[in-house]
Formats: sequence, structure tokens, C-alpha cells
Amino acid sequence: MATPVLPNSDTDSHTDSDAPVRILGLGGSTRAGSITERLLTAVLGLADEAGAQTTLLSVRDLDLPMFNDDIPFGEQPDVVHTLLAEVRAADAFVLASPTYHGTISGAFKNVLDFLNVDNRVPRTYFDGRPIGLAAFGGPSALNVINALGHSVRGLRGMQVPTVLTAGRNAIDGETATFADDATRARAEKMVGELILLARLLRDSQVRTGV
Ligand SMILES: Cc1cc2nc3c(=O)[nH]c(=O)nc-3n(C[C@H](O)[C@H](O)[C@H](O)COP(=O)(O)O)c2cc1C
Repeated sequence: MATPVLPNSDTDSHTDSDAPVRILGLGGSTRAGSITERLLTAVLGLADEAGAQTTLLSVRDLDLPMFNDDIPFGEQPDVVHTLLAEVRAADAFVLASPTYHGTISGAFKNVLDFLNVDNRVPRTYFDGRPIGLAAFGGPSALNVINALGHSVRGLRGMQVPTVLTAGRNAIDGETATFADDATRARAEKMVGELILLARLLRDSQVRTGV
């Protein structure tokens, strides 16, 4: 798993069709022992095994302030610039939120709100890139998937068909790996869809120069 790029790093390797697919995982919770973050780690581990280059930005590590639309882009803290540079550099995304009161957590939604900050450059929001959705929690985790789907559409992303919900027995909290074969198989399917779609889209952009 790669460490986050710095704000001014070159983010143009998405135009190189031979480069590994870059997948950015956004998620987790503000909790140090976040199981959602472990779920995300497990998904990105599968993507690593499939040859992708992955980066995880956790909600806890980002530690973003509350989004305030009055603060101009240039006055946002460095972490916001890092977040936006990572989003711009990625070919695909995995979003993972815990279930809070039957829906997405406020802290995770706050991360998504920051994607609005710099809308003057290309590849802002999730602009036409594929996204896999994951949620940790009980039966209402499906509400989280649906809420994430609404945000993904609002942020111009392309959700892949397979989604992932996981309860307590699906994740080994110690090793951040799948403890349940069915959940692992679903995660593999989602990762396969992400990589395939990211490659197809990236190759078509290379050909057309979009
Ligand atoms: C404010 C709050 C609301 C919660 N609401 C739900 C819920 O509606 N459904 C559910 O299955 N779990 C709910 N939980 C339990 C969380 O899913 C559980 O604590 C989980 O471990 C949180 O994710 P994390 O480990 O990544 O922090 C809630 C937890 C908190 C703190």
C-alpha cells in the first residue's frame, strides 16, 4: 500500500495505459480501532494482490475540520490539499463507512463534502471514475450503501454493481483480513469490477486524449 502523495506531486500517470490501476480507499471512522477501516484494508489488500496500486486515507488520520464553504480553497489546511491531490491521482475508489443511526457516519460525509472545495480543475469530485462501496454494520448497512450511492452520483462517480456489507463476523479485527469466505468472494468480485472498469476507462481516455 502506497503512502499518500504530496499536494504538488505529478498526478498524470493516469494517462499511461501500462501503469497499475491506482485505487484510493477512503473510509473508516474516527475510532482508533475502526473495524470499517479494517474492512477497507482487507478490500485494498485484494486489490494489491490483483496488481493495483492502493492508498488508504482513513477518516481518523485525515482528521479534517468541519467543512465550511466560507473558507476559500487556498486557506484550507494542508490535509485538504493532500486529500484532493490523492482523489485527482486515482483511477478508482473504494468508499467504506460505518453504519451510524441507520446511515452513513457524519465524519465520512464530511470527507466527501471536502471534494467540493477545488472545482476549478479537471478530475475534481469523482469525475467519471469507478467506485466500489462498502459498509460495516448490521442489516441497516445497506442503507449506508444507498446513501453512499447518492453521494457518488452527486460527485459524478460511477458505482460498480457489486457492493459489500460486512458485520462483526466478517472481518478479523486483528489482521484486517476477511473472516468469512462469502464476504471475501464478494469483495473479490467488487475489486475485479473496479479494476476492469478503471482500465477500460483509462485506456479509452488515452486513445481519445480526453
Ligand atoms: C453514533 C453511533 C450510531 C450507531 N448506529 C448503528 C446502527 O444504526 N446500526 C448498526 O448496525 N450499528 C450502529 N452503530 C454501531 C457501529 O456500527 C459500530 O460501533 C462500529 O464498530 C462502528 O464502526 P467503526 O468500528 O469503524 O468505528 C452505531 C455506533 C455509533 C457510535
